[in-house]
Amino acid sequence: MIAATDFIPKPYTNSLNQGSFTWSAPSNIALVKYWGKKNNQIPANPSVSFTLNNCKTITTLAFAKKQKDGNFSFDLLFEGKPKEDFKPKIQKFLERIEVYLPFLKEYHFTIDTQNTFPHSSGIASSASGMAALAMNFMSLEKALHPEMTEEYFFKKASFLARLGSGSACRSVKGQVVVWGNQANIKGSTDLYGVEYPYAIHDTFRNFQDTILLVDKGEKQVSSTVGHDLMHDHPFAERRFAQAHENLDKLIPVFENGNLDEFITIVESEALTLHAMMMTSLPYFILMKPNTLQIINAILKFRNETKIPVCFTLDAGANVHVLYPNAVKEKVLQFIKAELVGYCQNGQYLCDEIGNGALLN
Ligand code: DP6
Repeated sequence: MIAATDFIPKPYTNSLNQGSFTWSAPSNIALVKYWGKKNNQIPANPSVSFTLNNCKTITTLAFAKKQKDGNFSFDLLFEGKPKEDFKPKIQKFLERIEVYLPFLKEYHFTIDTQNTFPHSSGIASSASGMAALAMNFMSLEKALHPEMTEEYFFKKASFLARLGSGSACRSVKGQVVVWGNQANIKGSTDLYGVEYPYAIHDTFRNFQDTILLVDKGEKQVSSTVGHDLMHDHPFAERRFAQAHENLDKLIPVFENGNLDEFITIVESEALTLHAMMMTSLPYFILMKPNTLQIINAILKFRNETKIPVCFTLDAGANVHVLYPNAVKEKVLQFIKAELVGYCQNGQYLCDEIGNGALLN
């Protein structure tokens, strides 16, 4: 079994004074949710997600060797302009990964990042952002150690991304990624995300995710605080066990494409995530009235038309509408006719399942 210490590199064979890399990494949407963690970004339960395709972060990492090692040294640009309020998160990330990337203090970095989705959309960019940055650091490490295998490159990229933000480790690869040790999923580990290793039915291959932007405001509860609330949570142990059970149940569903079963598991996971927040102390209600309007409209539409469309939620009020490509036209028609009115400024984003990070 692989251990975190396996990602501490041996002395590098190459040296490099300056250069730059650009990677894009997509967002992802969890089907079985990660909610609760132990020390060092180890998840309390395994999760599985669809990697997205259109919502992504594009990050250029420029590096120049410093005269003296000293401290971490970096500038952070968001859409080309300095962004001071992102810096503490990056500083913390660098501190966490330094032992695995011992060259970090030898360079001055300029990190220039942008998202393909509107930055005020309330869509978390931490998964795509941390994944894109981790990919760039791995490109630099590979330049210092060209013998590195592709397998190690991607595993370690996901491992590093996890230390930035847990869900980021699921944004390195596609299309279906498992993170967290699960007895029945070969190769699954708490340390990084792995491509789902078993059969996936064609119906999932071009699955659609339309993200309805219900509330673009600042998050009421940061995910770090939310995860912490699972420590003394009265239902935590049962919830963690349930995540294992739901992941188990998804194995035959991924294979046979049984969308009724898929929908039951995915919607139950979304509501359970919010139930955990509503039953923690302090408690949080992150759904808005329009979130519930949308959920009820989806349930009614599905009941009446038998079209296999379902919802899932992140730690916020926005709704992800999931459906197979075969019913795309009908679902988009329904969204435009009945759901857009519940979105802030009528805004929604069309995305679909994708393949993971890309070098530009
Ligand atoms: C509700 O990955 O944002 O989206 O590890 O503290 O950065 P940190 O948390 P984060 O948590 C995401 C939680 C979730 C569910 C999920 O994506 O699995």
